[in-house]
Amino acid sequence: MADSDMAWAKLDPAHVPPEIDPSKPSVARVYDAILGGKDNFAADRAVAAEAVRAAGDGGSGARLNRAALGRAVRFMSGEGVTQFLDLGSGLPTAQNTHQIAQAVNPCARVVYVDNDPSAYIHGQALLVDNDSTTVVLADIREPDKLLAMPGVADFLDFTQPVGLILNAVIHHVLDEEDPYAIVGRYKEALAPGSYMQLTHFSDASAAARANERVLRESLGRGQTRSREQIVRFFDGLDLVEPGVVFLPEWRPDEPVSVPLDRGGTLMLVGVGRKS
Ligand SMILES: C[S@@+](CC[C@H](N)C(=O)[O-])C[C@H]1O[C@@H](n2cnc3c(N)ncnc32)[C@H](O)[C@@H]1O
Repeated sequence: MADSDMAWAKLDPAHVPPEIDPSKPSVARVYDAILGGKDNFAADRAVAAEAVRAAGDGGSGARLNRAALGRAVRFMSGEGVTQFLDLGSGLPTAQNTHQIAQAVNPCARVVYVDNDPSAYIHGQALLVDNDSTTVVLADIREPDKLLAMPGVADFLDFTQPVGLILNAVIHHVLDEEDPYAIVGRYKEALAPGSYMQLTHFSDASAAARANERVLRESLGRGQTRSREQIVRFFDGLDLVEPGVVFLPEWRPDEPVSVPLDRGGTLMLVGVGRKS
């Protein structure tokens, strides 16, 4: 597909917005390309092809990651959560958080946050008619700033439970950027009865380790962590059953075939509740 076919070219055929550099791959657009989306450039598709080749999973890990997000949002909605803060939400694709949450409760409020202008622009276009959902351009590594921003502070009621979504984003925060302090600050802001969902590249996975090398070289980001390190993100929360497990194993809708394939072991997922 030509780059002029991208959604923002349809919104404004004259040009790609100046804040977007088509020559540099971005995490959001590479992931969109792996998922088979159309909102990416040749530079993104090249990295996506290399990442999928290295992981050897045909992109199934990314699809399983989306499916895990859907099950977690449905679970939280079923527990009565009606507000969601989706950090590192990415480019809109099928079954986004607001669509899942609002299918359970049409009044559910959702804030999407991403630091990639492509995600922001496409998110705004998708949400133009949805008063219960908004999108904010911000860096999750600045939690205090983010939590105080218009579109977050005035859109969600932090005295009530919130579903905090960290789907495939914390592995893009490097150790030297102190991901535990960052996640800790978000957990602190949550009221009792809130939930946090997180998916994260697992260092037990050959697919994830190979993927990490490609992402580090091309994007400077992407870090596998051990199960113990990933469980640590849930400190202070009560992990809901079945705990921190590989993507297909978290409350599956259908029986899971074992052993898991390469995509199935790409990431670990867990959901914790604040009491
Ligand atoms: C692999 S994608 C995951 C998208 C979506 N959460 C999902 O799981 O389908 C990671 C997303 O996190 C975003 N991201 C990475 N680092 C970020 C940061 N420091 N602040 C905000 N967003 C970030 C990227 O732009 C990208 O859209």
